[in-house]
Amino acid sequence: MVDRNGWGRDRPVPTGSPRSPPDWFARQANVTDEEIYETFERDWPDCWERAADLLSWDEPYDTVLNDENAPFYEWFGGGKLNAAYNCVDRHLEAGRKNHVAIRWEGKHGEHETYTYRDLYVEVNEFAAALRGLGVEEDDVVTIYLPMIPALPIAMLACARIGAPHSVVFAGLSADALATRMDAAESEYLITCDGYYRRGDAFNQKSKADNARLSVEQDVETVVVDRLGDDLPHVLGDDERDYHDLCREYAGETVDPVSRDAEDMLFLMYTSGTTGEPKGVVHATGGYLAHVAWTSHAVLDITPEDTYWCAADIGWITGHSYIVYGPLALGTTAVMYEGTPDYPDRDRLWEIVDRNAVDVFYTAPTAIRAFMKWGSDYPDRHDLSSLRLLGSVGEPISPRPWNWYREHIGRGDCPVVDTWWQTETGAVIVSTLPGIDEMKPGAAGPGLPGIDVAVVDEAGDPVEPGQAGYLTIGRPWPGMARTLYDGDDRFRSEYWDRFSDPDRDEWVYFSGDAAAIDEDGYVTVLGRIDDVINVSGRRLSTMEIESAITDVDGVAEAAVVGRSSEATGTEIYAYVSTAGGHDPDATIRQRIVDSIESTIGPIAKPSEIVFTPELPKTRSGKIMRRLLEDIANGEDLGDTSSLRNPEIVGEIQAESGTE
Ligand code: WT7
Repeated sequence: MVDRNGWGRDRPVPTGSPRSPPDWFARQANVTDEEIYETFERDWPDCWERAADLLSWDEPYDTVLNDENAPFYEWFGGGKLNAAYNCVDRHLEAGRKNHVAIRWEGKHGEHETYTYRDLYVEVNEFAAALRGLGVEEDDVVTIYLPMIPALPIAMLACARIGAPHSVVFAGLSADALATRMDAAESEYLITCDGYYRRGDAFNQKSKADNARLSVEQDVETVVVDRLGDDLPHVLGDDERDYHDLCREYAGETVDPVSRDAEDMLFLMYTSGTTGEPKGVVHATGGYLAHVAWTSHAVLDITPEDTYWCAADIGWITGHSYIVYGPLALGTTAVMYEGTPDYPDRDRLWEIVDRNAVDVFYTAPTAIRAFMKWGSDYPDRHDLSSLRLLGSVGEPISPRPWNWYREHIGRGDCPVVDTWWQTETGAVIVSTLPGIDEMKPGAAGPGLPGIDVAVVDEAGDPVEPGQAGYLTIGRPWPGMARTLYDGDDRFRSEYWDRFSDPDRDEWVYFSGDAAAIDEDGYVTVLGRIDDVINVSGRRLSTMEIESAITDVDGVAEAAVVGRSSEATGTEIYAYVSTAGGHDPDATIRQRIVDSIESTIGPIAKPSEIVFTPELPKTRSGKIMRRLLEDIANGEDLGDTSSLRNPEIVGEIQAESGTE
């Protein structure tokens, strides 16, 4: 049995009938060379020069890969470059100054257009302003902004001066922000007064204020005024207004700081298997090369395209495929502030239609919602500009895959299902849309040069169709370099399980279960660690459990995922109360409040089940796996080895999953 989600039991892997890329697509695709897999294999690791060649280097690199200190690999060592220069300046120099870089679509139907020249001006002004505030190279700048243009501008301004950014998703709580600022010892914060959620003005600054109160360091803060008169705010002595500051530095430019390829570009916190979020460190050269290469080879983006990734920049998808990848290629990227169903459920299709979007990239959770809402909404609009569709964040089963292709892609656009992670930096598993057959329900093979394997407990490859652990056997340029919290944690989280350091064999473990077919196509089955994926967002069960046990009157808590048609996974919380008392009327609300204030509303359980005791092994460990089976209405098998088997029936009755 490989995992807690039951994938170890032999289940058929659901894939639909294969489809070839249409000729019209293949003819124009960025990558059409069918030999590319063999070429990359033969030339590995030098094959990755193809990715590095998409960038402009200040100094050429000496070595493609240095593996002397594995698993702390170095890519493109000796090379120097600046990420903001690559995403902005060089497009001006190439005579494309008035080409649109970002097309921003606001929640209330406003739109703003930033050419590469506009972006250059604003990034420079804000970079100068950051310098003015005292930000130096290698200082971590925390950015806590929703989907407004100041977010990518601030990221690029940081990159320009060599200050790593740490973007914290705007929907996370004050506590979550404080934890991340503390861990990164960050003394600079870029935030805003608030933003619109549906029709309402929502106060972001009060969350930022609370976070600042609980961190030890003094924090210089810049506040973007997004809401104007809808939410008046007063600035303190150590707070500056973003627009005032940019006016103060109007017209100033800052030379891009030439960074070593291995210098940190950014830090991104993500949920791990313990309660503490992990600070994933990405390096400048390898990351940028890998995101540019996959934007080119997988998303098939050209500079002439209008490309839209409907994710939030607050997570890795937005870093890699709204900001760095597309802008490095000099394309036009759409950035959308709102939700898919406001003011109506055709909002996204209206945006695709009006902007004539060529390539559209979203998550299965959104696709399942579109499917539920029905095809009338997309049918109201002209989607004929679309050439390629992408999916990311969770497994997509054949039904939504086919619906997406049929109703958004006219039954004709290739669909790429891209598997990757915060830690991998960029896409790892996907079909190449101009070459490979698509199999709905399977993401695809490892990309050229990438060595994915599905292995058993002993690290040996499983038979085709069997479930196992998804691993990556060779390094790749976009890989995380370490965790900000320390090299030891990096090794223990990802490398210890399947590597053999004595023989200098290093295997990366993803935390996912998967199956692989005869053609090497990977079907990802889901997380097998203490991470759950809710609507494509990664949450740690232990982090949620600790927010619950913080509540007065709670004795113990176990959080598990339950499969859900709508969100992929829903959160089920099993809670026992102190002294086995009946839960009082307020405890449910206090649990929800505690989760919302320590993590954010995205971590709210869809069900809280109270039980006098949690099921435990003889040695006293909570049997989370059993609770997961209960939540999913699975057959439980033999529970007699529990210390308290009698509790199982009671919990099943309470869960309504008997
Ligand atoms: C986890 C990583 C990659 C950016 C978004 C999430 C799941 C991601 C797929 C896919 C099946 C997928 C995995 C992975 N996942 N893409 N195409 N098919 N599962 O990044 O927050 O770091 O989460 O998302 O479980 O481990 P993340």
